[in-house]
Amino acid sequence: MSKLSILFVCLGNICRSPLAEGVFHDVIDARGEASRYRIDSAGTGAWHVGSAPDPRSIEIAARYGIDTSRQAARKFSLRDSEDFDLVLGLDRSNVDDLRAAAGPRGSAKVHLYMDYALGLQRDVPDPYYGGARGFEEVYRMIREASEALAEKLAVDVSAAPSGHTSSTI
Ligand code: 4NP
Repeated sequence: MSKLSILFVCLGNICRSPLAEGVFHDVIDARGEASRYRIDSAGTGAWHVGSAPDPRSIEIAARYGIDTSRQAARKFSLRDSEDFDLVLGLDRSNVDDLRAAAGPRGSAKVHLYMDYALGLQRDVPDPYYGGARGFEEVYRMIREASEALAEKLAVDVSAAPSGHTSSTI
């Protein structure tokens, strides 16, 4: 069975999307479904390419038992829109930038994370210039979206014929 590939994307790939990758991995691990997925994260900007996540992002993940410290930031590329089944932007400006970069064909795979997972037109706010409380809020939103996303995709997988993922993604 082919894996479902998901790319989480924010602006810098050092605060929100590394957390989205780490938390979703934790969720699918707990569900015993990690082998069904290939997940990664990227940023629409290149300022932090090669860097580990922001220490505040690593710290909030660690507080919940998740290690994101070995991730390295990279920039989203057109190739990602071909490689991944699903590209989830953390806020609406990420989604706009992703659609512009992915072109008309790739754009169909690009969704706002909170909308795709929970049906909410909400941004996961950029916590870079804020304090620790911003990261706590981001963590909570991402945790809730991750649980909902895993549930939604598990339903899609089991509903599709012959165990393949649904083409409606
Ligand atoms: P992220 O946060 O998009 O959640 O990784 C940011 C990180 C860095 C910058 C902006 C947002 N920056 O402007 O350098």
